[in-house]
Amino acid sequence: MRALNSILVTGGAGFIGSNFIRHLFASSTFSGRVINLDKLTYAGNPENLEDVLEAFGGKRYFFEKADICDPEAVRAILRRYDIDTVVHFAAESHVDRSIFGPGDFIQTNIVGTFLLLEAVRELWGSRQDVLFHHVSTDEVFGSLEEGRFSEDSPYRPRSPYSASKASSDHLARAYFHTYGLPVTVSNCSNNYGPYQFPEKLIPLIILNMTEGKPLPIYGEGKNVRDWLYVEDHAEAVWQILKEGQAGETYAIGGDNEWENLRLVETLCDTMARLTGRDAKELRGLIHFVQDRPGHDLRYAIDCAKIKRTLGWSQGMAFERGLEATILWYLEHKEWVARVRSGDYRSWVERNYGRREASQ
Ligand code: NAD
Ligand code: DAU
Repeated sequence: MRALNSILVTGGAGFIGSNFIRHLFASSTFSGRVINLDKLTYAGNPENLEDVLEAFGGKRYFFEKADICDPEAVRAILRRYDIDTVVHFAAESHVDRSIFGPGDFIQTNIVGTFLLLEAVRELWGSRQDVLFHHVSTDEVFGSLEEGRFSEDSPYRPRSPYSASKASSDHLARAYFHTYGLPVTVSNCSNNYGPYQFPEKLIPLIILNMTEGKPLPIYGEGKNVRDWLYVEDHAEAVWQILKEGQAGETYAIGGDNEWENLRLVETLCDTMARLTGRDAKELRGLIHFVQDRPGHDLRYAIDCAKIKRTLGWSQGMAFERGLEATILWYLEHKEWVARVRSGDYRSWVERNYGRREASQ
């Protein structure tokens, strides 16, 4: 029986991590506490969890500003909260940034994951009521021509980002096979939804539309991605924590493939319908730009295993998810402004200054 009393979420101030933590507290089957360990890079914003902090802060929710590459800090946090479950989201996550500066990706995604695994192994010894869940990506499987990726697909990463994630997947599995550490891994397709940093395609396009700026499409816009609403990913991870088998990998996807150009056109049409703006005018903002080097053509996931073994399925229809996402960005202009200007860091000082100073 898994403990699930004290869950360490790394990268919980980022896009998926913060949605996951909110989802946990909304779940009627979770009664434990969450410790959010985050370095607060440009992509981490604890303001994403202001509501959770207000409702559960100091009781069932705790934030710790720390770097997974700092073993002393990590060990101290693991011990202080008697952690029995780790959900490892923390990573450098943007492919384009990895092309122009791979160093941080190697450090956080590979070295950081290794150091975290070591710290957890030291703490847990041979305990089996614990779990280290490693959150990964379908990009480790490379560029797809036909069929879909599954848990058995060979690894063929092609960007520094996906190569670093592939490496961390191998390390996580190695700790299961070599040391008997209870480990699960998930490889998920493209997420979208609230709180996504506006460097990623969907929020970037939404914000550029609102500002009348060009909508940049790499190459000819023929690349295909499989989109999943972030809360559906959060629920999949929660199912794995509860019922997933140690040593197993779970592929998670949206069964929802879109060519980039068609997706951006649909975003234009949805924005027009929601706001009364002219769809043709919005589509007129589409602007083809130089392609991403090594741009993977297509990703698609066969997620039959997690559906069959854990009973998970996607809950959000794509049209409804896109509408909800557009409306969220339209209604959170201050969040957008603060994230873009880096101003949320002053919010961090106000709310976490004392704890940061004590570390
Ligand atoms: P994100 O960039 O929004 O958030 C990453 C978080 O990790 C940030 O809060 C950041 O501050 C934190 N972080 C970075 N380096 C750290 C370090 N050294 N120590 C502690 N914290 C650190 O990323 P995301 O989109 O939420 O992705 C989360 C995870 O899910 C990543 O592992 C990513 O590879 C994986 N993933 C993402 C997607 C997607 O579509 N976004 C899909 C599949 C898998
Ligand atoms: O597949 C899962 C992965 O999805 C995650 O592991 C990554 O962390 C996440 O960033 C995402 O990677 P992508 O590279 O697929 O996402 P991005 O939003 O950057 O781009 C989606 C597609 O849109 C991709 O084919 C590149 C294209 N694109 C992107 C941007 C930012 C554009 O055409 N124009 C753009 O301006």
